[in-house]
Amino acid sequence: MDQRITSYIHRDKFRIEGWLHTDAALAIAALGERQQALGVGGGVAEIGVHHGKLFILLYLLGRSSEKAVAIDLFEDQHLNVDQSGNGDFWTFRRNLERHADTQRLVVHQGNSLDLSGADLVRLAGGPLRLASVDGGHTAQHAAHDLAVAEAALAEGGIVIVDDVFNEQWPGVAEGVHRYFARRPNLVPFAIGANKTYFCRPSHSESYRDAAVAAAQWVTMPDFLGERVAVLQFARRSFKDRFAHSDAWRRLRATPVGQPLRWAWHTGRRLRRGLVRKEDF
Ligand SMILES: C[S@@+](CC[C@H](N)C(=O)[O-])C[C@H]1O[C@@H](n2cnc3c(N)ncnc32)[C@H](O)[C@@H]1O
Repeated sequence: MDQRITSYIHRDKFRIEGWLHTDAALAIAALGERQQALGVGGGVAEIGVHHGKLFILLYLLGRSSEKAVAIDLFEDQHLNVDQSGNGDFWTFRRNLERHADTQRLVVHQGNSLDLSGADLVRLAGGPLRLASVDGGHTAQHAAHDLAVAEAALAEGGIVIVDDVFNEQWPGVAEGVHRYFARRPNLVPFAIGANKTYFCRPSHSESYRDAAVAAAQWVTMPDFLGERVAVLQFARRSFKDRFAHSDAWRRLRATPVGQPLRWAWHTGRRLRRGLVRKEDF
Protein backbone atom coordinates (compact mmCIF):
# COMPACT_ATOMS: atom_id res chain seq x y z
CA MET A 1 0.00 0.00 0.00
CA ASP A 2 1.18 3.56 -0.79
CA GLN A 3 3.08 5.03 2.20
CA ARG A 4 0.90 8.17 2.26
CA ILE A 5 -2.24 6.05 2.53
CA THR A 6 -0.75 3.87 5.29
CA SER A 7 0.31 6.95 7.30
CA TYR A 8 -3.08 8.55 6.82
CA ILE A 9 -4.96 5.46 7.99
CA HIS A 10 -2.77 4.66 10.98
CA ARG A 11 -1.75 8.15 12.12
CA ASP A 12 -3.11 11.30 10.46
CA LYS A 13 -6.79 10.44 10.33
CA PHE A 14 -6.87 10.44 14.16
CA ARG A 15 -6.23 14.20 13.99
CA ILE A 16 -9.44 14.81 12.06
CA GLU A 17 -12.87 14.96 13.63
CA GLY A 18 -15.34 12.64 11.93
CA TRP A 19 -16.46 9.05 11.53
CA LEU A 20 -14.16 6.44 10.02
CA HIS A 21 -13.08 3.22 11.72
CA THR A 22 -9.54 2.08 10.91
CA ASP A 23 -10.96 -1.27 9.76
CA ALA A 24 -13.27 0.49 7.31
CA ALA A 25 -10.36 2.58 6.04
CA LEU A 26 -8.27 -0.57 5.49
CA ALA A 27 -11.13 -2.30 3.64
CA ILE A 28 -11.67 0.75 1.42
CA ALA A 29 -7.94 0.95 0.64
CA ALA A 30 -7.95 -2.76 -0.26
CA LEU A 31 -10.93 -2.20 -2.59
CA GLY A 32 -9.15 0.77 -4.19
CA GLU A 33 -6.14 -1.46 -4.81
CA ARG A 34 -8.35 -4.13 -6.38
CA GLN A 35 -9.78 -1.48 -8.70
CA GLN A 36 -6.25 -0.49 -9.72
CA ALA A 37 -5.43 -4.14 -10.43
CA LEU A 38 -8.58 -4.48 -12.57
CA GLY A 39 -7.83 -1.23 -14.42
CA VAL A 40 -11.03 0.44 -13.18
CA GLY A 41 -10.77 4.23 -13.47
CA GLY A 42 -12.98 7.21 -12.65
CA GLY A 43 -13.35 10.00 -10.16
CA VAL A 44 -14.15 9.72 -6.46
CA ALA A 45 -16.92 11.55 -4.60
CA GLU A 46 -18.54 11.86 -1.22
CA ILE A 47 -21.97 13.20 -0.29
CA GLY A 48 -21.49 14.47 3.29
CA VAL A 49 -17.80 15.18 3.93
CA HIS A 50 -18.01 16.97 7.33
CA HIS A 51 -14.29 17.71 8.04
CA GLY A 52 -12.97 15.30 5.41
CA LYS A 53 -12.02 12.21 7.43
CA LEU A 54 -13.11 9.70 4.77
CA PHE A 55 -12.89 12.12 1.86
CA ILE A 56 -9.13 12.50 2.33
CA LEU A 57 -8.68 8.73 2.07
CA LEU A 58 -10.77 8.68 -1.14
CA TYR A 59 -8.67 11.56 -2.45
CA LEU A 60 -5.40 9.73 -1.69
CA LEU A 61 -6.77 6.65 -3.48
CA GLY A 62 -7.46 8.72 -6.62
CA ARG A 63 -4.97 8.97 -9.48
CA SER A 64 -3.54 12.30 -10.69
CA SER A 65 -6.07 12.44 -13.56
CA GLU A 66 -9.12 11.63 -11.38
CA LYS A 67 -11.23 14.38 -9.86
CA ALA A 68 -12.46 14.23 -6.27
CA VAL A 69 -15.89 15.75 -5.66
CA ALA A 70 -16.86 16.94 -2.16
CA ILE A 71 -20.58 17.56 -1.66
CA ASP A 72 -21.88 19.07 1.57
CA LEU A 73 -24.20 21.73 2.90
CA PHE A 74 -21.15 23.22 4.63
CA GLU A 75 -22.25 26.70 5.78
CA ASP A 76 -25.96 26.02 4.95
CA GLN A 77 -26.47 23.97 8.13
CA HIS A 78 -30.08 25.21 8.47
CA LEU A 79 -30.83 22.62 5.72
CA ASN A 80 -29.28 19.80 7.77
CA VAL A 81 -32.68 18.48 8.85
CA ASP A 82 -31.46 15.60 11.04
CA GLN A 83 -28.24 17.20 12.31
CA SER A 84 -26.11 14.40 10.91
CA GLY A 85 -22.62 15.86 11.22
CA ASN A 86 -21.84 19.51 10.76
CA GLY A 87 -19.87 20.29 7.61
CA ASP A 88 -17.41 23.18 7.79
CA PHE A 89 -15.80 24.17 4.51
CA TRP A 90 -12.64 25.86 5.83
CA THR A 91 -11.87 23.12 8.34
CA PHE A 92 -12.40 20.55 5.59
CA ARG A 93 -10.15 22.40 3.14
CA ARG A 94 -7.41 22.94 5.71
CA ASN A 95 -7.44 19.22 6.56
CA LEU A 96 -7.24 18.24 2.89
CA GLU A 97 -4.34 20.65 2.27
CA ARG A 98 -2.51 19.32 5.32
CA HIS A 99 -2.84 15.63 4.47
CA ALA A 100 -3.00 15.66 0.63
CA ASP A 101 -3.43 18.63 -1.76
CA THR A 102 -6.34 20.39 -3.46
CA GLN A 103 -5.36 20.08 -7.13
CA ARG A 104 -8.07 17.56 -8.02
CA LEU A 105 -10.70 18.92 -5.63
CA VAL A 106 -14.15 19.89 -6.90
CA VAL A 107 -16.45 21.37 -4.25
CA HIS A 108 -20.19 21.43 -4.51
CA GLN A 109 -21.88 23.27 -1.65
CA GLY A 110 -25.57 22.49 -1.64
CA ASN A 111 -28.41 20.18 -0.72
CA SER A 112 -27.84 16.70 -2.14
CA LEU A 113 -31.60 16.43 -2.69
CA ASP A 114 -31.16 18.95 -5.53
CA LEU A 115 -28.42 16.87 -7.16
CA SER A 116 -28.84 14.27 -9.94
CA GLY A 117 -26.55 11.49 -11.15
CA ALA A 118 -25.88 13.53 -14.32
CA ASP A 119 -24.80 16.51 -12.15
CA LEU A 120 -22.38 14.29 -10.30
CA VAL A 121 -20.89 12.88 -13.52
CA ARG A 122 -20.47 16.43 -14.80
CA LEU A 123 -18.75 17.58 -11.59
CA ALA A 124 -16.39 14.58 -11.66
CA GLY A 125 -15.69 14.87 -15.40
CA GLY A 126 -16.96 11.30 -15.95
CA PRO A 127 -18.35 8.26 -14.11
CA LEU A 128 -17.12 7.47 -10.60
CA ARG A 129 -15.13 4.56 -9.27
CA LEU A 130 -15.63 5.34 -5.55
CA ALA A 131 -18.69 7.13 -4.17
CA SER A 132 -19.41 7.51 -0.46
CA VAL A 133 -22.96 8.24 0.73
CA ASP A 134 -22.85 9.87 4.18
CA GLY A 135 -24.97 13.04 3.96
CA GLY A 136 -28.45 13.42 5.45
CA HIS A 137 -29.50 10.27 7.32
CA THR A 138 -33.28 10.31 6.77
CA ALA A 139 -34.87 7.62 4.56
CA GLN A 140 -35.50 10.27 1.92
CA HIS A 141 -31.87 11.40 1.87
CA ALA A 142 -30.42 7.89 1.95
CA ALA A 143 -32.64 6.64 -0.91
CA HIS A 144 -32.01 9.76 -2.99
CA ASP A 145 -28.25 9.94 -2.41
CA LEU A 146 -27.82 6.23 -3.14
CA ALA A 147 -29.73 6.68 -6.42
CA VAL A 148 -27.51 9.65 -7.35
CA ALA A 149 -24.32 7.71 -6.57
CA GLU A 150 -25.53 4.65 -8.50
CA ALA A 151 -26.47 6.75 -11.54
CA ALA A 152 -22.97 8.25 -11.58
CA LEU A 153 -21.12 4.95 -11.15
CA ALA A 154 -18.57 3.53 -13.61
CA GLU A 155 -19.01 -0.15 -14.50
CA GLY A 156 -16.41 -1.18 -11.88
CA GLY A 157 -17.40 1.53 -9.41
CA ILE A 158 -18.17 1.02 -5.72
CA VAL A 159 -20.74 2.83 -3.56
CA ILE A 160 -19.97 2.96 0.18
CA VAL A 161 -22.94 3.73 2.43
CA ASP A 162 -22.46 4.70 6.09
CA ASP A 163 -24.70 3.71 9.02
CA VAL A 164 -26.96 1.17 7.22
CA PHE A 165 -26.88 -1.01 10.37
CA ASN A 166 -26.52 1.77 12.93
CA GLU A 167 -29.55 1.73 15.23
CA GLN A 168 -29.16 5.46 15.88
CA TRP A 169 -29.98 6.19 12.24
CA PRO A 170 -32.81 3.82 11.19
CA GLY A 171 -33.68 6.14 8.30
CA VAL A 172 -30.60 4.94 6.42
CA ALA A 173 -31.75 1.28 6.46
CA GLU A 174 -35.23 2.36 5.39
CA GLY A 175 -33.81 4.46 2.57
CA VAL A 176 -31.64 1.59 1.29
CA HIS A 177 -34.63 -0.78 1.26
CA ARG A 178 -36.81 1.85 -0.42
CA TYR A 179 -34.18 2.27 -3.11
CA PHE A 180 -33.75 -1.48 -3.63
CA ALA A 181 -37.51 -1.89 -4.12
CA ARG A 182 -36.84 -0.22 -7.49
CA ARG A 183 -34.56 -3.16 -8.45
CA PRO A 184 -31.50 -1.11 -9.40
CA ASN A 185 -28.51 -2.49 -11.29
CA LEU A 186 -26.55 -2.64 -8.04
CA VAL A 187 -25.79 -5.38 -5.49
CA PRO A 188 -24.36 -5.35 -1.98
CA PHE A 189 -21.15 -7.33 -1.55
CA ALA A 190 -19.76 -6.56 1.91
CA ILE A 191 -20.61 -5.06 5.29
CA GLY A 192 -18.14 -4.10 8.00
CA ALA A 193 -17.09 -1.42 10.51
CA ASN A 194 -20.29 0.59 9.86
CA LYS A 195 -19.92 0.66 6.07
CA THR A 196 -21.97 -1.27 3.51
CA TYR A 197 -20.53 -1.74 0.03
CA PHE A 198 -22.39 -1.96 -3.30
CA CYS A 199 -21.31 -2.39 -6.93
CA ARG A 200 -22.57 -3.63 -10.31
CA PRO A 201 -23.20 -7.42 -10.45
CA SER A 202 -20.27 -7.81 -12.89
CA HIS A 203 -17.71 -6.93 -10.17
CA SER A 204 -19.27 -8.24 -6.95
CA GLU A 205 -17.29 -11.48 -6.76
CA SER A 206 -13.92 -9.82 -7.23
CA TYR A 207 -14.69 -7.06 -4.72
CA ARG A 208 -16.11 -9.51 -2.18
CA ASP A 209 -12.83 -11.46 -2.38
CA ALA A 210 -10.79 -8.29 -1.89
CA ALA A 211 -12.89 -7.27 1.12
CA VAL A 212 -12.61 -10.76 2.64
CA ALA A 213 -8.81 -10.63 2.31
CA ALA A 214 -8.78 -7.39 4.32
CA ALA A 215 -10.70 -8.93 7.26
CA GLN A 216 -9.67 -11.38 9.99
CA TRP A 217 -12.71 -13.58 9.55
CA VAL A 218 -16.07 -13.40 7.78
CA THR A 219 -19.60 -14.73 7.72
CA MET A 220 -21.60 -14.91 4.48
CA PRO A 221 -25.30 -14.20 5.09
CA ASP A 222 -27.77 -12.99 2.46
CA PHE A 223 -28.72 -9.33 2.26
CA LEU A 224 -31.07 -7.89 -0.39
CA GLY A 225 -30.98 -11.24 -2.20
CA GLU A 226 -27.17 -11.43 -2.44
CA ARG A 227 -24.46 -13.25 -0.54
CA VAL A 228 -22.49 -10.59 1.33
CA ALA A 229 -19.26 -10.83 3.28
CA VAL A 230 -19.74 -9.57 6.83
CA LEU A 231 -16.23 -8.50 7.75
CA GLN A 232 -14.97 -9.07 11.28
CA PHE A 233 -11.81 -7.43 12.49
CA ALA A 234 -9.78 -8.62 15.48
CA ARG A 235 -8.88 -5.76 17.76
CA ARG A 236 -6.01 -6.28 20.18
CA SER A 237 -6.87 -5.25 23.74
CA PHE A 238 -5.26 -2.14 25.22
CA LYS A 239 -3.19 -4.38 27.56
CA ASP A 240 -1.86 -6.34 24.57
CA ARG A 241 -1.02 -3.23 22.60
CA PHE A 242 0.69 -1.62 25.60
CA ALA A 243 2.70 -4.79 26.32
CA HIS A 244 4.17 -4.61 22.78
CA SER A 245 4.67 -0.85 22.69
CA ASP A 246 7.98 1.07 22.68
CA ALA A 247 6.79 2.97 25.75
CA TRP A 248 6.57 -0.24 27.79
CA ARG A 249 9.90 -1.54 26.44
CA ARG A 250 11.57 1.64 27.72
CA LEU A 251 9.68 1.58 31.04
CA ARG A 252 9.85 -2.06 32.06
CA ALA A 253 13.40 -2.07 33.47
CA THR A 254 13.10 1.26 35.32
CA PRO A 255 12.18 1.74 39.02
CA VAL A 256 8.63 2.62 37.85
CA GLY A 257 8.32 -0.38 35.54
CA GLN A 258 9.48 -3.03 38.00
CA PRO A 259 6.62 -2.65 40.53
CA LEU A 260 4.18 -2.51 37.59
CA ARG A 261 5.53 -5.83 36.29
CA TRP A 262 5.28 -7.33 39.77
CA ALA A 263 1.66 -6.12 40.11
CA TRP A 264 0.74 -7.43 36.67
CA HIS A 265 2.27 -10.90 37.22
CA THR A 266 0.80 -11.19 40.72
CA GLY A 267 -2.63 -10.20 39.37
CA ARG A 268 -2.34 -12.91 36.73
CA ARG A 269 -1.34 -15.55 39.27
CA LEU A 270 -4.20 -14.42 41.53
CA ARG A 271 -6.67 -14.86 38.72
CA ARG A 272 -5.32 -18.35 38.09
CA GLY A 273 -5.67 -19.20 41.80
CA LEU A 274 -1.90 -19.64 42.31
CA VAL A 275 -1.79 -17.00 45.08
CA ARG A 276 -4.42 -16.54 47.80
CA LYS A 277 -5.38 -13.03 48.84
CA GLU A 278 -4.72 -14.01 52.49
CA ASP A 279 -0.99 -14.38 51.59
CA PHE A 280 -0.70 -10.58 51.51
C1 LIG B 1 -22.05 12.20 9.27
S1 LIG B 1 -21.41 13.63 8.54
C2 LIG B 1 -20.26 12.98 7.37
C3 LIG B 1 -19.03 12.35 7.99
C4 LIG B 1 -17.88 12.21 7.03
N1 LIG B 1 -18.21 11.35 5.91
C5 LIG B 1 -16.62 11.72 7.71
O1 LIG B 1 -15.80 11.07 7.03
O2 LIG B 1 -16.41 12.02 8.90
C6 LIG B 1 -22.74 14.16 7.54
C7 LIG B 1 -22.44 15.38 6.67
O3 LIG B 1 -23.50 15.51 5.73
C8 LIG B 1 -23.81 16.85 5.55
N2 LIG B 1 -25.23 16.90 5.12
C9 LIG B 1 -26.32 16.70 5.87
N3 LIG B 1 -27.43 16.80 5.12
C10 LIG B 1 -27.02 17.10 3.86
C11 LIG B 1 -27.68 17.36 2.63
N4 LIG B 1 -29.03 17.34 2.53
N5 LIG B 1 -26.93 17.62 1.53
C12 LIG B 1 -25.58 17.67 1.61
N6 LIG B 1 -24.90 17.43 2.75
C13 LIG B 1 -25.60 17.15 3.86
C14 LIG B 1 -23.53 17.50 6.91
O4 LIG B 1 -23.24 18.88 6.77
C15 LIG B 1 -22.34 16.69 7.41
O5 LIG B 1 -21.14 17.34 7.10
